[in-house]
Amino acid sequence: MTVLLQIDGVSRYFAGYTALSDVSTAVETGTIHAVIGPNGAGKTTLFNVVSGVLLPSSGQVRFAGVDYTRRKPDRVLAMGIARNFQQVRLFRGLSVLENVMIGRHCRMATGARGLLGLGIFNRAAETQARATAREMLEFVGIGARNERLPGELTLVDQRRLEIARALASDPRLLLLDEPAAGMNPAEVRELTGLIGRIRDRGITILMVEHHMRLVMAAADRITVLSAGRVIADGPPQQVQRDELVIAAYLGKPHAPAHGR
Ligand SMILES: Nc1ncnc2c1ncn2[C@@H]1O[C@H](COP(=O)(O)OP(=O)(O)OP(=O)(O)O)[C@@H](O)[C@H]1O
Ligand SMILES: [Mg+2]
Repeated sequence: MTVLLQIDGVSRYFAGYTALSDVSTAVETGTIHAVIGPNGAGKTTLFNVVSGVLLPSSGQVRFAGVDYTRRKPDRVLAMGIARNFQQVRLFRGLSVLENVMIGRHCRMATGARGLLGLGIFNRAAETQARATAREMLEFVGIGARNERLPGELTLVDQRRLEIARALASDPRLLLLDEPAAGMNPAEVRELTGLIGRIRDRGITILMVEHHMRLVMAAADRITVLSAGRVIADGPPQQVQRDELVIAAYLGKPHAPAHGR
């Protein structure tokens, strides 16, 4: 097993408030790695550091051995780390298909400057981006809604759309922040299958999720954050039995594998 993402002693302060304190963990290539913890534990802040949205106050992030701590989000994306957002972020005036094509532009020679009618893609690149976008929308299960506007989709389908857009960038590591939020049990089962199929494509997954049934079913490894610190890190069966985790997060010693 090789380490794809190394998070090394990352701390992040906000005006004296400690959101992350000396967080370290390693995400191995080809695995599904979950980050869990109570609200406000620092999970999204950690994703913001890993995706280049936030600079850590101290510590390092390394991708395939390369320190990329100070790289901007667009360069982090081009390097192969894509993400969704806990609060869905889509271009409301563009179609579902166009939203996914935008995910592709980091792979285009023209870069971020021109998009679609704005002159971003040349014709060949646009044809290819369109084909990739269609394939990704099929893959996440919303291929029939290509021409809709994002606002016409349910929130659950908007989450799927964000995953399709992230996949269109051809990432090596996909960061998913609460992908199951708002889903019913059948949708969570479907998402669990989708996450497995993404991993089967060779994409490593780092996922924040409260839905314990999904985490226990899908994750190879779990890092538990509480008040900005790592309180446990290991395989699901080990983390599930950890006294600190039970006390800080799961709350119920004998029934930790419940959905939320
Ligand atoms: N930009 C910011 N400025 C100030 N404080 C922030 C900022 N971002 C996050 N925080 C604070 O850092 C702490 C951790 O927030 P974060 O969003 O990382 O938690 P989380 O574990 O993702 O929580 P949730 O489960 O609710 O999504 C919170 O107390 C939050 O208010
Ligand atoms: Mg969060």
